[in-house]
Amino acid sequence: MPSATVHVSEGEQSASAQEVQDYPQSDTEISQTRESERPHHFGQSEFTRLHSQWAHMNSRTVHDAPDKEEKWGRYHAVYREARKRWTNVPYHKIAQEIRAWAKQEAQPLRIGDFGCGEGLLFQELRSMADYSDVVQSFVSFDHHIPVEGSEARQARGEHLVEMDFNNRRALRPYMGNDWMDLNCAVFSLSLMSRDWASVFSDIIPALLSTSRANRIFICEATSHDSKLQRLSELLKGNRYELLTAQPETFGNPSFTLLVAQYCPLQVPRNVATHH
Ligand SMILES: C[S@@+](CC[C@H](N)C(=O)[O-])C[C@H]1O[C@@H](n2cnc3c(N)ncnc32)[C@H](O)[C@@H]1O
Repeated sequence: MPSATVHVSEGEQSASAQEVQDYPQSDTEISQTRESERPHHFGQSEFTRLHSQWAHMNSRTVHDAPDKEEKWGRYHAVYREARKRWTNVPYHKIAQEIRAWAKQEAQPLRIGDFGCGEGLLFQELRSMADYSDVVQSFVSFDHHIPVEGSEARQARGEHLVEMDFNNRRALRPYMGNDWMDLNCAVFSLSLMSRDWASVFSDIIPALLSTSRANRIFICEATSHDSKLQRLSELLKGNRYELLTAQPETFGNPSFTLLVAQYCPLQVPRNVATHH
């Protein structure tokens, strides 16, 4: 587990300089590399720069920004470029882990993808031959869901919710749908904004059924060590137990996957009930 100092209280609301810079490679590192040694510097640099900007903003500010169609279009274009240089992509890894868990449970899962981007996780799961053994329902949340392609996504069984997932009130119109009763939540590179920690107080308790086992999958750049440390603490503080003492790291650039399972309160057997 990364062992960097934990930023608490107000600090938890502000991204550390290190977190911002090296996602997944810092602009400083890029600028220190000679032009001739930068085969794909443009996409990576702009992806990092956009992340730096948003890491300093609350999600509401990001959500309310004008020109969404254009901004998110550009963002996903540079994200696609950056991925070409990654040896392993988080949503692939998460899809495999989800599949393995569904098989172990012997029942399909009700999945929420928080910060779905272009819906790549859903596509990955949908392409599996045993999709219906793995997925019972799938809902994708994002600041911006492009109109183009959304009909096709829905036709394949993906529920699309355009909202700031840090905003619990925005969930209200959707509550009551059976596909909102989740037992699997995914945050793949999506805990981006300054106030990311509020998903633990606002969203997870509202959407994840606590009457039975449920799991949260979170993937972050390994270089975000203080954020990963804080995430582990928040999970534990909310009765989620990390499945492995040492979270798995993979790929180059390196990503860390946290998988945590909800542990319902154990009532001691010898506690008498008084009337
Ligand atoms: C780096 S992309 C990752 C996309 C996808 N999860 C993946 O792994 O490929 C991060 C996505 O999270 C979304 N996101 C971040 N914070 C959000 C929030 N508070 N509400 C809704 N979407 C959010 C962004 O809009 C963006 O599409």
